[in-house]
Amino acid sequence: MVAFPRPFMSFSHYARQPISRNVFLQPQRRLLSFTCSRYNNSHVDENKNKKKLKNVFQANASRTVRKQKSKEELAKEKFEEQLKSPNRFVRWGAIARSEKFSKGMTKYMIGAYVVFLIYGLFFTKKLFARDKELERLLKKQEEGNANEYEILRVKELRGKLRRRDELKLKEYKKMQEEGVEDFDDVHVQSFDQNKLNEQILPARDTTTFYQGKASEYDKAINMEEKVIFLGKRRKWLMKHCQGDVLEVSCGTGRNIKYLDMSRINSITFLDSSENMMDIAHQKFREKFPKYKKVAFVVGKAENLVDLAEKGKPSKENEKTEQVKYDTIVEAFGLCSHEDPVKALNNFVKLLKPDGRIILLEHGRGQYDFVNKMLDNRAEKRLNTWGCRWNLDLGEVLDDSDLEVVEEKRTHLGTTWCIIAKRKGDLKKKGELGFVEKYLQSSIRKRMESFEKKNDPDSEKQPEPGTPINKS
Ligand SMILES: C[S@@+](CC[C@H](N)C(=O)[O-])C[C@H]1O[C@@H](n2cnc3c(N)ncnc32)[C@H](O)[C@@H]1O
Repeated sequence: MVAFPRPFMSFSHYARQPISRNVFLQPQRRLLSFTCSRYNNSHVDENKNKKKLKNVFQANASRTVRKQKSKEELAKEKFEEQLKSPNRFVRWGAIARSEKFSKGMTKYMIGAYVVFLIYGLFFTKKLFARDKELERLLKKQEEGNANEYEILRVKELRGKLRRRDELKLKEYKKMQEEGVEDFDDVHVQSFDQNKLNEQILPARDTTTFYQGKASEYDKAINMEEKVIFLGKRRKWLMKHCQGDVLEVSCGTGRNIKYLDMSRINSITFLDSSENMMDIAHQKFREKFPKYKKVAFVVGKAENLVDLAEKGKPSKENEKTEQVKYDTIVEAFGLCSHEDPVKALNNFVKLLKPDGRIILLEHGRGQYDFVNKMLDNRAEKRLNTWGCRWNLDLGEVLDDSDLEVVEEKRTHLGTTWCIIAKRKGDLKKKGELGFVEKYLQSSIRKRMESFEKKNDPDSEKQPEPGTPINKS
């Protein structure tokens, strides 16, 4: 007996099947059950039935019967479609999810990590070598034995080369390539931009100029300052004011509106032009009508030390006492001074220990095309505004006695924001750079301990508590 499939299933049976199965398999089933039932009911002999049935099966064998796909199969199909997608983002997404890619990526990541480690090692070694060289040269400089090349090299290692230094160092390096090793008695010609560049006009006394400019100054400069958002820089300048404050070249008092008097003990304004100072005085009184600890001094920054003397000494050989300041600020003054280096040196003399000099100035930029523009219009600028806007301020700062703590430049390098201190005073915590604060010392300690470990001649550290012989 041949076991035929059941000709008809109950409705509930079909209802229980998944829809796709019902839809795809029903026609075949019906055909099969119809054929079977016909043969079942016809009572012809068994062999004939078998043969016919075989034919039916054979005839149906060529028909494709669709099977329901599993979730995994559907996902795989979709993924393969995405791999061939004309949309490059879909295609890249699919590639990124592929097993081949993730295996390859692991290899790349390991490779990149190894490269990073090797690079890091070389970088740290280089940093350490530079640090050691700097330390050695600074020691020489402190002892007063450093030659010009070494002083320039210190600047290079600190990333503080000015244009004239770059040109000088280039000359020294040329000599080094030619085999010169000792530069003790070698002196290279000067490349001072402020002296050699004829388009940087000579300094002059601008008092008369500003006396005449005072009444129109504010109105004329307002627009220019707004265009370059100078208010933000003035705010930066004045936020440093604390304790006893001196503002040099105060002009018409354009910084007064940024003063925070809660941090100030006293304030002195200085300007060489009386007319400019009158306007500043008026502005101050409008804003702080009752403030008492304020002085308005008409005079030149070059004579500041004399101006700051507190009267004459009562006894012979007694030193005159000078007023000293916690903060000395100046905005756009150096470019109009007759002797900017002398002015800065006076600031240093009048600064209290740990005091700060804050400068907001304009001068040469960081790009040649900008400097060319400044040079070409230098004369016009001097005639309109009384200032030398193409001055190399870096040279002025380096020639003075102050030490720059922070130097930031904006407007293509033409606006200089400077924080400076007296030489020898310590930097404040907030003034230390990230590398200086966290990396340099720790790298040095690690490398030194590493060197000691590998050096058999290195001295053994004494046990704690062991007495140390001092010869
Ligand atoms: C360009 S204005 C700047 C004024 C003001 N600081 C500002 O930001 O608007 C230059 C000022 O410096 C003053 N000045 C020029 N030479 C000076 C000197 N040797 N000592 C003190 N002030 C001077 C001028 O009188 C003028 O008020």
